[in-house]
Amino acid sequence: MIELRDVRFVYPGARRPALDGVSLRVEPGRTIGLLGPNGSGKSTLVRLMNALLLPTDGTVSVDGIDTGDDASVWTIRSRVGFVQQNPDNQIVGTVAEEDVAFGPENLGVPPAELRVRVDDALAAVGLTGLERREPHLLSEGQKQRLAIAGALALKPSYLVLDEPTAMLDGAGRADVLAALAALRARGVGIVHITHHLEDVLGADRVIVLADGRIAYDGTPVELVGDPSRAGSLGIDVPPIVVLADALRREGIAVPRDAVTAEGVVESLWPS
Ligand SMILES: Nc1ncnc2c1ncn2[C@@H]1O[C@H](COP(=O)(O)OP(=O)(O)O)[C@@H](O)[C@H]1O
Ligand SMILES: [Mg+2]
Repeated sequence: MIELRDVRFVYPGARRPALDGVSLRVEPGRTIGLLGPNGSGKSTLVRLMNALLLPTDGTVSVDGIDTGDDASVWTIRSRVGFVQQNPDNQIVGTVAEEDVAFGPENLGVPPAELRVRVDDALAAVGLTGLERREPHLLSEGQKQRLAIAGALALKPSYLVLDEPTAMLDGAGRADVLAALAALRARGVGIVHITHHLEDVLGADRVIVLADGRIAYDGTPVELVGDPSRAGSLGIDVPPIVVLADALRREGIAVPRDAVTAEGVVESLWPS
């Protein structure tokens, strides 16, 4: 479990804290969607989870290890994989498999195990068969999945992703979301920062930050079923939910948990 207890974080020289009074837990096999306007503290929050930043006040621990414990920084970084917005900034290898091998190789993983880890990581994100492909020849979605494979090769218990779909088109986005769903099924705890509530409709939980504080903590379905609340938190609800809401106001009984096109259609015309 990643646990934040009453965390405050102030950047050096800043007048206001980037985060204040934040407590939360990330559990293995669960996905948290993290939303909030620009500047609300999302990136700061995930950087605290893998000891890239240390809290000004409060504590952050990973499986019981305090992130402030100098001797454990590498243990923490290998348990909490980090994927950024732009895959081009994280790819280092000249071919896909070399890129994925980079992290574990640096940790001294022996060649036979390295091969297994690389193959597993590429399979987990659906890139089997592209081992020898040069990264710049991959699509943006494939590149982002390669970056995720690179994090996975370190066998993390948790994966934190800072807007991993922001640079992707619809197809690339869908592929990355499918890869993340598969990882959750394997027991990886995931924190997924996004601007699209649609990206995290399948999450176990959604947290919305506002001015460095938790403004909402609940299920995505509750949030999406309450468009005015979502709106006040600065979150755009998917068009299908706006439509369902309009239908309800017209007296058509669309359940609040019908939040996908398939769900709404099924509620209107049960198969
Ligand atoms: N390196 C930094 N130095 C000083 N202030 C920063 C730095 N990075 C972010 N901030 C400030 O901290 C706050 C939270 O930023 P951030 O965590 O990047 O938010 P988000 O990811 O939600 O856009 C903002 O007010 C931002 O300006
Ligand atoms: Mg950010």
